[in-house]
Amino acid sequence: MAGKLMQAVLYDCYGGGPAGLKHVEVPVPTPSKGEVLVKLEAASINPADWKIQKVTDVAGEVLEVGPGVENFKAGEKVVAMLSSLSLTVPRPPEVSAAEGAALCIAGLTAHQALTQSAGLKLDGTDPQMNILITAASGGVGHYAVQLAKLGNAHVTATCGARNVDLVKSLGADEVLDYQTPEGAALKSPSGQKYDAVIHCASSAPWSTFEPHLSAKGKVIDITPGPGAFATYALKKLTFSKKQMVPLLLNPKGENLDFLLTKEGKLKTVIDSKYPLSKAEDAWAKSIDGHATGKIIIER
Ligand SMILES: NC(=O)c1ccc[n+]([C@@H]2O[C@H](COP(=O)([O-])OP(=O)(O)OC[C@H]3O[C@@H](n4cnc5c(N)ncnc54)[C@H](OP(=O)(O)O)[C@@H]3O)[C@@H](O)[C@H]2O)c1
Repeated sequence: MAGKLMQAVLYDCYGGGPAGLKHVEVPVPTPSKGEVLVKLEAASINPADWKIQKVTDVAGEVLEVGPGVENFKAGEKVVAMLSSLSLTVPRPPEVSAAEGAALCIAGLTAHQALTQSAGLKLDGTDPQMNILITAASGGVGHYAVQLAKLGNAHVTATCGARNVDLVKSLGADEVLDYQTPEGAALKSPSGQKYDAVIHCASSAPWSTFEPHLSAKGKVIDITPGPGAFATYALKKLTFSKKQMVPLLLNPKGENLDFLLTKEGKLKTVIDSKYPLSKAEDAWAKSIDGHATGKIIIER
């Protein structure tokens, strides 16, 4: 590949927003030891991308492998979270590049929240739990609803009015419009007390969740602010049975494999697709905060 050029989207400072992205041509890199060179087919946008200005979720075809790489070969279709070979996994043929890229951060966060934090096994043996999923129409939330149903949970979900039918179609047992008083209060229409809340909407105070939790209910907050960390510490120090669990994604290749092989059962809702030449529009759409499902960039 030496000497060849490829299209790239670059930024050269933080905080420039979509207008800070520049379309340039750069030399095609040569994979070093333990690296693979992947030709991009699709990338998925997450809020983290514009918050820390780094796109991580991609799917594509291996063009070249570096020294010491034995588990991949040229021509193989893969899904990867940049930039770690341990987070590069084969893409099954039944999963499109867009679906594969979409599953990375969003699917892994939903999986970690439900398994590591809420304790589900997702292997058909889970006892029924009552789970609330907020922002269930978003990238993380729409996978969380489907995974929670795989784990036998009764799912209450929140989303905007326009997405209530969609979220029901993903399996939610009851859905609240977050712009109604009941929705803002997170109160289950059937009076369920939640064993776990997967909180994907923006930060909310503990007092919003507390009245609706079961005796050992947990709030798994994927958007934790300082208040969530303070509540976490307070609940630990006071040996409270109800807990706050701030979540930071710890991505694992084996979990990405699990999600890709569950793809037959997991539907990826695609909000919109943009060509690489319009990557800044994809960012702007994500910054707007009203995506239904995932935003995809395709070559
Ligand atoms: N901790 C971690 O490691 C981690 C990992 C992944 C994501 N996150 C964070 O988790 C959050 C969700 O990520 P995402 O990718 O799912 O975001 P997203 O796809 O951008 O979420 C957008 C969706 O959220 C809905 N929504 C917004 N406010 C809501 C509310 N108060 N109640 C119910 N629904 C609401 C919107 O509905 P409307 O359009 O109807 O308003 C829209 O459908 C982001 O802040 C992200 O940074 C954290």
